[in-house]
Parts: sequence; C-alpha cells; structure tokens
Amino acid sequence: MSIPHQPAPAPRTATGTLDTAFDRAFGHPAGLLGRLGGWVMARGNAGTEHRVVDLARLEPDEIVLVVGPGPGIGLDAAGRLAGEVIGVEPSAEMRALCLERCGNRVELRDGSAARTGSADASADVVLTVNNVELWEDRAAAFAELFRVLRPGGRMLLSAHEKGLPVSRHELADEAAAAGFTDLQTWTWQPPGFAPLAAQLKAVKPA
Ligand SMILES: C[S@@+](CC[C@H](N)C(=O)[O-])C[C@H]1O[C@@H](n2cnc3c(N)ncnc32)[C@H](O)[C@@H]1O
Repeated sequence: MSIPHQPAPAPRTATGTLDTAFDRAFGHPAGLLGRLGGWVMARGNAGTEHRVVDLARLEPDEIVLVVGPGPGIGLDAAGRLAGEVIGVEPSAEMRALCLERCGNRVELRDGSAARTGSADASADVVLTVNNVELWEDRAAAFAELFRVLRPGGRMLLSAHEKGLPVSRHELADEAAAAGFTDLQTWTWQPPGFAPLAAQLKAVKPA
C-alpha cells in the first residue's frame, strides 16, 4: 500500500509566534492576551483617541459611529458629547471592556469596518483609530463608511504612521476613490511615548 506524501508542517519560528501573540493582544484581541492588550491600548493610545474626538467637534444631536474602539477610550469620550454613539468592534473581549467603561452611554455591535450593520446615511460622523491597518479590504471598508455617512457627514481616521499599509497620501486617494471629498491628511505627535500618528479627515459630499 502506498502512503500519500504529507508535506511537513511549517516550522514555528520565534518571529511567527511573536506575530501571533501581538495579533491576539492588539490586532484581533482575544483571551487573556487580548485583555492585556486592552489594558495597554487604553493607556498608550488614549492621547490619540481623545485628539480624534476633539478634532471631530461633536455636537449633542449627532450620531457617531466608532469603528474598532478597542478598550473604548474614544468611544467613551464621544459618548459624553454626542447624542448617539455606536461602537462596531469584532472582538468580544474589547466589546466587554467597552461595556465596562461606557455602560449604556453607547451602543455596541459586533462587526467590522466593511460590515458595520448601519443603515444608509445614518451617521453624522465616523471615527476610527489604529484600525485601518487591519482592514482586509480597504476599498470595501471605505465604501461602507461612505455608505453609512449622511451627505455632509465627516470621517476622522488616525493610525500609527509607521504601521500604515500604504502612505497617508495613498490612503487619502483610496478614500477619494470611495467618493469622499475635502481630504486633509497630516501627522501628529501624541504626548508621551506613543509613535507619530498619521491622520486623515474626509467629508461625504452634501
Ligand atoms: C490596535 S486596536 C485599536 C483600538 C483603539 N482604537 C486604540 O487605538 O486603542 C484595533 C481594534 O480594531 C479591531 N478590529 C480588528 N479588525 C477590524 C476590522 N476589520 N474592522 C473594525 N475593527 C477591527 C480589533 O478588534 C481591535 O479592538
């Protein structure tokens, strides 16, 4: 009897193990590592989360969609300013941290940037911090965020510049391809040890 050839399993490298651990802590937070990552992000990224909420100049009657809130620092800040705030977050651990932090000031939803579960033109503002590098299909995600914004609505995006998959100018081009206008992009140095942030503002034409 011939035994079919089985390819040898790929050797697990130290870099691969580290990448997986990093992803379970920060990219797709899960389990104990995810909760630890949530603790770290709530401290390390707080300055940027608050900065993005400040830049959005939220009004008390506005509806805000926060994509990938992680442990919920920006979500909580937005929830104290805007009329209705919805967090779309694929990680159950992060949704639990958001609930602990924000209580019933916000609504939480399982979903992603490309699948928010929001109706057409239902949000005034979209906020997303340290998230774009995780979008599997950026064109689909930008199209979804454009769809859920009302005409005249705005999107603010921030991410560690050195972690961007493309330059911030190319990101702006991708947002423009989805229909956004009035694109502005700049860098901002958060206080403390956090790395330089690349930021982008875009508007859905009225
Ligand atoms: C690096 S953390 C950033 C969290 C928080 N905004 C911050 O800056 O501290 C990325 C978050 O995005 C979520 N996420 C991963 N893939 C996503 C996707 N495709 N769409 C939306 N959120 C996603 C993760 O579950 C995680 O909570």
